[in-house]
Formats: sequence, C-alpha cells, structure tokens
Amino acid sequence: MQLKYLTDYKLSGRKVMLRVDFNVPLKDGHIVNEERIDRSLPTIQHILNEGASLIIVSHLGRPEETNEVQKEFSLKPIALSLEKKLKMPVDLKRDLSSIKQSSEDLLMLENIRFFKGEKSNDSNLAKDLAGLCDIFVMDAFATAHRAHASTTAILDFVDQACAGLLIKQELQALDRIDNAEKPIVIVLGGAKISTKLPLINALLDKVDHLILGGGIANTCIAAQGLEIGKSLIESSLVSEVKSLINEDNVILPSRVLVAENKEAEAREVDIDSLTKNDAIFDVSPTFIHSLQKIFNEAATIVWNGPMGLFEQDQFSLGTQAVANLIARSEAYSIIGGGDTISAASMSGVLDSINYISTAGGALLEYLAGKSLPALAALQKKALERVDNGA
Ligand code: 3PG
Repeated sequence: MQLKYLTDYKLSGRKVMLRVDFNVPLKDGHIVNEERIDRSLPTIQHILNEGASLIIVSHLGRPEETNEVQKEFSLKPIALSLEKKLKMPVDLKRDLSSIKQSSEDLLMLENIRFFKGEKSNDSNLAKDLAGLCDIFVMDAFATAHRAHASTTAILDFVDQACAGLLIKQELQALDRIDNAEKPIVIVLGGAKISTKLPLINALLDKVDHLILGGGIANTCIAAQGLEIGKSLIESSLVSEVKSLINEDNVILPSRVLVAENKEAEAREVDIDSLTKNDAIFDVSPTFIHSLQKIFNEAATIVWNGPMGLFEQDQFSLGTQAVANLIARSEAYSIIGGGDTISAASMSGVLDSINYISTAGGALLEYLAGKSLPALAALQKKALERVDNGA
C-alpha cells in the first residue's frame, strides 16, 4: 500500500491534527487497559519533538451524536493518563471554537462521536476539523474501517495528510499474515456482532478452523433454531448466518455458561438445554480445552473478541482458556482489539503473543481482504500531485 508517512514531512512550527484510537476499555471511569494509548505515544512524541503544535482527536465508545459532552463517554480519564505519560498538560476542549482560540501546544478534542456528522462522514464537520490544522495525521488503525468525518471525509479538505507511526507498524506486522503458514485458526468472539458477522464468509475461505464465541456464536446458535433465552444476539442477522452453521471449518460451542443475569452464579449447560430465562455469558472452558489439538497443531492463530463477559470473574473462564491455549501453542499468534488485549492481559499471557494489534474490527476487515476506507482515502491523497509538502 502506497502511503505517505509522518516521517516524510517537516513539522516544525506547524499545526498538526492527529486522529488516534483511544477507545480503551473503562470500568467505573478508570482505564482497564492502556495499550492503545501507549502504542500512540511514539507518534505523539515525534510530532511534539519536531516542534509542531498538536490537536489530538479520538472517539470513545458509541455515544449519541448530540453535540453535548456525555460524562460516561468523556475523554477526561484518557487526557489525565496522557498527561502523566507525557509529563505535560493536555488541555481537553469540548468544541472546535475553543481549539481555534487556544495557543497551547497540546490540545485534545472531546470525544469526536459527540459531534453531529462524525458517523455519517459529513463534509461540513470534516471541513471544520480540517480548518484547524496545516497537516492531518491518521494513526487510528483500529478505526480505519469506519468511513467517518475524522477518519475519511477530512482527507478531502486538508492540504496535507499522512499516516502515523502506529499505522506503519500495524501494516508491516499484518502483511506477514498475507502468506500465513497453515493450518490457520481464527478465534472470533465479542459483542460487536454486526461488524464481524458479515466478514465470516470472506474469512472462511482463508482459514482451516474458525472458532466462534460471544455474541457471534449466540447468533449462530439462534440460527440453528435452538432456545437462546435472553442471550445477546443480532436478530437481523440470524437468517444470514444460516448458511454458515454447517460449514466444516466453523466450530460453535457445544457447552456454555449461563445465568439469569450477569450478577448470578454461572451454570454449565449443553447448548440445547437453555431455558427462556437463561442468558449465555461464556463458553464452557471444558469445551475450549476439548479444542486443544487444534490449537497445538495450528501454525498461525488470530484471536479477536472475548468468549463472554470476561470482566465478571464467573464468566471469564472460557476467555481465559482461549488465552492460555494460544499462549501455550507454538503457532505464530496475533491478537487484536481493546477487549481482547485487556482479556489477554488479565490472563497474564501478553508476553507469549507474537503480535498485539490495537485493532479489532479493522484487523478482521483487513484480514478478510476488505479495503479500509480511511486507508483508501490516505492512499488517494498520497497519489495527489498537489500534496507535495514533504
Ligand atoms: C474498535 O474498538 O474496534 C474501534 O475503536 C472502533 O470502534 P467502533 O466499533 O465503535 O466503531
């Protein structure tokens, strides 16, 4: 992929806008895992060391686009964490006009998903953002699959744009997967069902085993016509996944951990024994261990998405079992996504993983061979002759 990178540009005295992905897991207002912040630091430090002023833009979670700050989704905890890491103040601004008026060297805009037009890739918002900087640096690899105003439309309005150091690192590492050694195993879970389910067909062609857990597995179990009670599923996709459930290389859990609510004690049951009041909160760890041979024989393993509600101790065992089997296998292993990194970290296996990608959904789309809109826009920009500021 032909992109321009941060290091191709002179930055001294210029205003740089940096799009990062600080969509980190939070619990009670505290950051559970800082990997996405830490991995953005080299780009941030490079820009500041070059003598540029910097405006950092990120999203966090999926708030309503109201143009108002919603406390639960505020970037405040992240700004505080960044201050400690950089040992300098990070001024969090709630709107674009406060950014325009400020003369400080390091600013952060509040969650860009508060702003109307972000998710619809709106030109007006993109133009306003572009008006705040001389050069735009895209380093949110984990959000590159979203065509949003701050990842994609902005490229139509900035004079100069390039990719940051994290995107460079991610692309170099993931290129290795293009010629990945077989057998290839992908473990797919998590709650973002509508992002991931449509990719399964494309992934199936490339892998030897696709092990499903989380909301994705629940949706497939519903497609088998089984009772899934109050489990998290994507009803609109149930008929679409019917064709997948009989594929030889798809592995669905045969036993799961259920409860009436997430505070209740877990019960292990066969997948055809759920009642209307049960919800699936984890895959049985015994079931995961029954797949040990597949993990041991794999040459490449990719994991995205926890098997269940791993934040609750009683529903963390299936996810921990996956983490431990990957850590013990001799395969080249890649894990990706905020929750997956957090789960692997809680299981104490991060040091045994070969590559940790900051991306979840974007990683899967990349592996499925889809074009990521933000990278495509950067590439188009790199080919424009007028963009000659290097
Ligand atoms: C992610 O965590 O995968 C990215 O931050 C994108 O988040 P989204 O699925 O809410 O767009």
